[in-house]
Amino acid sequence: MSFFEWHAPVPKAHEMGIFKRALKFLLNIQQGAPARRLNWTMTVNPLLDTSSENYHQWGVQKNTLTPENIGRKQHLRVELQTFFRLPSSNAMVFPIRCYLCNFQDLITVPKWGRRLHRVVRDLPVELATYKGFIDNRPMMLDYLGQFDDGLPTSPGVWPDLETEPTLSK
Ligand code: HEM
Repeated sequence: MSFFEWHAPVPKAHEMGIFKRALKFLLNIQQGAPARRLNWTMTVNPLLDTSSENYHQWGVQKNTLTPENIGRKQHLRVELQTFFRLPSSNAMVFPIRCYLCNFQDLITVPKWGRRLHRVVRDLPVELATYKGFIDNRPMMLDYLGQFDDGLPTSPGVWPDLETEPTLSK
């Protein structure tokens, strides 16, 4: 498959010209100068392998969310994707490191709690469907809405806390 073919299922981005720019970015990566990008999605239970081959194992777990367990089971998944050009073959190595944080830990940082509520709420239906959480979105919003006090958030990912948050066990 070509770069455009394997990205075909991604909604909206093709019309916006994002994959044309992404391919340029990819082809420009030089030996000795690796690049990185972040991607995010949602994962129920802290599972690292959510490949399509294993969908039959993890897909059904999305049906186990309840208002009582959502804080513990629903995870924001952030993927740190890195791109290394290899010196002899000129091939690309593409590792993906996944970080999972459940909602109850995430909301211990007020800025993250209020921002995640807004991102999940405002994401277009096509993208929430593609990322696999359209059915659970109302329950996620009920949970996260409790932690959105309506204040503005500062730019960037920094937690803006004076002390470390206390995480759940
Ligand atoms: C070796 C390079 C790459 C490979 C093998 C790769 C592979 C993939 C695959 C398999 C998917 C999932 C498609 C599906 O739903 O079936 C995907 C999604 C995606 N890729 Fe790539 N990709 C690469 C590089 C890039 C680059 C350079 C960018 C942007 C700069 C990019 C942006 C995206 C985006 C935005 C999505 C949708 C993810 C989401 O919203 O959850 N990809 N990629």
